[in-house]
Amino acid sequence: MEKRPLIICTDPGIDDFVALSMLLHRPDFEILGIICISGNVGLDITVNNALLACELNGREGIPVIAGSAKPLCRPARTACNIHGKSGLGESVERYSKRSAQKLDAAAFIADATRRLPGKLEVLSLGPLTDVAIAIDRYPEIRSLFRSITVMGGGIHLGNATKYAEFNIVSDPEAAQIVYTSGSPVVMVGLDATQPCLIPRSRIAEMKADSELGNLIPAMLADYADVYRSVHGIEGLIIHDAICAVSLWHPEWFQTEKQHVEIMLTEDDHLGQTYILENEKPNCTVCMGCDTEKVNDEIIKAVQAVI
Ligand code: BDR
Ligand code: CA
Repeated sequence: MEKRPLIICTDPGIDDFVALSMLLHRPDFEILGIICISGNVGLDITVNNALLACELNGREGIPVIAGSAKPLCRPARTACNIHGKSGLGESVERYSKRSAQKLDAAAFIADATRRLPGKLEVLSLGPLTDVAIAIDRYPEIRSLFRSITVMGGGIHLGNATKYAEFNIVSDPEAAQIVYTSGSPVVMVGLDATQPCLIPRSRIAEMKADSELGNLIPAMLADYADVYRSVHGIEGLIIHDAICAVSLWHPEWFQTEKQHVEIMLTEDDHLGQTYILENEKPNCTVCMGCDTEKVNDEIIKAVQAVI
């Protein structure tokens, strides 16, 4: 079986960490590199957490690269209120012994795209800054991606603000560059992820007597505490893991081809993803998914790695 070459751009983040743990064990992907970006927490911490994910999942050989420390043209926004100061929940603080490779993130994406025309997949689980820089600096790669799958946006809802989702509003200019680049974008936003609420009681199914088997339930319990205190909900939504599942089970996601752009106005619509009806489609938008199958898949995948 030919492996699918994949670059992951991520800001771990509790749900990023779960997505990475699932992906690092999949035999169908060749993970060429993990590019970290500031997002949920600052860049140094997201790099640490990605290195930790590789270490604990036995994949130290995968290059971890420090990408952008801030968005294209605005100050960085964080989500420490949700992911804790460590990015992995209030009760988890772990340091990796390794450090990131000294590589330029945008050049890394461009090189891989040129080397593997029509084959490279990018999975973006954080703000789109580095993907946008790559596309902007090396425009010839726009038509060479197999896909750029983005956890981000929401046609009918927001979470960081009333209208905008966190990853998109964190760097809306970058998102606009990527969505309108002509590259094949797949958007797995809140329309698909928000209905995938996992009841808090199911965290126990992801517990085991191992390092990851302790760490993952601890961070998910902290994450569930935030859902309880902020939203009054007894459950959690592992957004980035849901997006990751769409790579190997696309048939569980309902999609539409649409033309999507990003609001860049300085008001509460900043970062909103919206559809332009009469324009040529630029994006495959996931409007929903089989929530039961997706959640069971995440729990099953975590059970397999702990
Ligand atoms: C997205 O924002 C981040 O907080 C999560 O890691 C996820 O990528 C959900 O809106
Ligand atoms: Ca993320």
